[in-house]
Amino acid sequence: MHTDNNNSIDNILEENRVFPPSNEFSSKSRLNKVDQLIALKNQAKNDPITFWKTFANSEIDWIEPFQTVLDSKNAPFYEWFKEGKLNITYNCLDRHIKNGRGDKIALIWEGEPGDSRSFTYKELLIEVCKASNALKSLGVEKGDLVCIYMPMIPEAMIAMLACARIGAPHSVVFGGFSSESLKDRLVDGKAKFVITADGGFRKDKIIDLKNAVDSALDSGANEIVEKVLVVQRTRKEISMKNGRDFWWHEILKKQDHTCDPEVMKSEDRLFILYTSGSTGKPKGVVHTTGGYNLWAHLTFKWIFDIKEDDVYWCTADVGWITGHSYIVYGPLSNGSTTLMYEGVPRPSNLGAFWEVIQKYKVSIFYTAPTAIRAFMKSGREIPDLYDLTSLRLLGTVGEPINPEAWIWYKDVIGQGKCPIVDTWWQTETGGVMISPLPGVVSTKPGSATFPLPGIEIDIVNKKGYSVNSNEGGYLIVKNPWPGMMRTIHGNPDRYLKSYWNYIPCEDQNYVYFSGDGARIDDDGYVWIMGRVDDVINVSGHRLGTMEIESALVSHKSVAEAAVVGKKDNLKGESIVAFVSLEKTYNSSSELIEALKQHVIDEIGIIAKPEKIIISEALPKTRSGKIMRRILRSLASGEEISGDISTLEDSSVLEKLRKEA
Ligand code: WT7
Repeated sequence: MHTDNNNSIDNILEENRVFPPSNEFSSKSRLNKVDQLIALKNQAKNDPITFWKTFANSEIDWIEPFQTVLDSKNAPFYEWFKEGKLNITYNCLDRHIKNGRGDKIALIWEGEPGDSRSFTYKELLIEVCKASNALKSLGVEKGDLVCIYMPMIPEAMIAMLACARIGAPHSVVFGGFSSESLKDRLVDGKAKFVITADGGFRKDKIIDLKNAVDSALDSGANEIVEKVLVVQRTRKEISMKNGRDFWWHEILKKQDHTCDPEVMKSEDRLFILYTSGSTGKPKGVVHTTGGYNLWAHLTFKWIFDIKEDDVYWCTADVGWITGHSYIVYGPLSNGSTTLMYEGVPRPSNLGAFWEVIQKYKVSIFYTAPTAIRAFMKSGREIPDLYDLTSLRLLGTVGEPINPEAWIWYKDVIGQGKCPIVDTWWQTETGGVMISPLPGVVSTKPGSATFPLPGIEIDIVNKKGYSVNSNEGGYLIVKNPWPGMMRTIHGNPDRYLKSYWNYIPCEDQNYVYFSGDGARIDDDGYVWIMGRVDDVINVSGHRLGTMEIESALVSHKSVAEAAVVGKKDNLKGESIVAFVSLEKTYNSSSELIEALKQHVIDEIGIIAKPEKIIISEALPKTRSGKIMRRILRSLASGEEISGDISTLEDSSVLEKLRKEA
């Protein structure tokens, strides 16, 4: 963690507009009285154990009941609902069929080339059981890690649920990551099996997923991975290795349509999901079964005020936590209809999202501020062409939303009538932590409003003391919650250091440090101000500056690299890299392009630097630390403020100013 990166903390927003929920919305919503919400919050605060116990019993079906709600003996390695036994797929599928909802649509899928499919709960269960049996037939056993590297097709969801059904934790790797990133994740998690596809449609191209798997295995993961299961999607020619690679459709068609759910302990692993941190390689965030099931279920129910006939659509990819919690587990655990879309809006099809909403009469829509800003830029004429009247609630996630985009979203997409839930959370938190409850809370554009019942937060300074209202500081969570991460795979020490030992605390042993800066205004509303560590957020995608630096330095021409985020009106932040070259290399536009491509190959397209600035030297302190604060100012064309007396060689600055 570099501490000179708290520039965003000073950047205080002024936004005083308040939007209460309409009577029309409130009167129909499950939670619609302020007193009701306050009572819930007080219950959770005064007696968290009873609070969580009550919900865990009323919302989740257990195969064997739990005795201990929260075990803090090894805090901060907390354990939830110990002794309890369950299977999350029972809660996501079987129980709805038992309750007479078997013919309800569970999944609507819209493909990129325009093909579509849908599955009732009964049909989805059959597919999941076939896939579960297929995995077993390939030798997957309870506890084996299965990597899923797939496009946004129903089989991605089916694969996740099949893993969960047989007790094999999944590790979903976003299909936009390169084979190099895939390899790192396979090796770190020791994944014995990979489920992938012959390719995926993305924008007007085909992404070669199977080829990427082959390269990952050829470059070192072959000693770990035993078998690869391949879904046919694009029918593009690929190579299949005898005895290692198997076609999904060939294996599945031989399988039984039933498969009993494995009995899992509450604290058995459900999945690992890699995310970027300040230092080193991405970390494998571990989530377990019982607590995660409850948190994904309850937050989905509260925040989206879900009703029996809602059609809910979250535009994330299942490769991110948003897809895990709010495309798959949260909606299905609630017996809802969840929509999955393979496409992404692009210049040749700017109305794609609105067409899907119109076609399926989507009532709840959840997307990222980056997407909203892009739509705003191309004008309201496009959404105005579509019938969006089915919408009743809108959500955003992933990055701070600027008030202009918030207002546009509400007026143009929400036709002025839909409340907006701006939901703050992280891969680590498993589910939403701060968000309005749409029937009760008056919203302010750009604020995620208040923490959910059961979540106690504070904004503190480096020493752990609460700051005054309206003052920026570090966002912390003061209590454990069921959906919290349990550890970092293979690195419990990093779990302790990154999250629990960073902020000193006097009255409690452990507080969770989020890595975000925030402030709370005089009315108690939380305003997230962005990361305070070396993590950047590009279009809602989280990247570590150090990962990108390592990728650059692994190129033969690069001596040193420093990466910073630059404010970007569309993407939130864009990536700027400062690079110094090895002696025998000279700067050229070809080299800069080659370096950008190298980062794409090493990490993936989402990490492509917008700008690479080649410089003779980088500004360093006398002890050799690169002064990123200076680079950040240079990248955004700002005056360099603050102390530069620790700079070793001030002539570097003059040279850099010319280059930047
Ligand atoms: C980081 C977590 C979990 C959702 C997808 C991203 C930023 C997330 C908001 C929001 C402002 C937000 C934070 C956080 N973030 N939601 N509503 N307002 N910032 O998950 O990849 O783990 O990234 O996304 O900086 O720390 P993630």
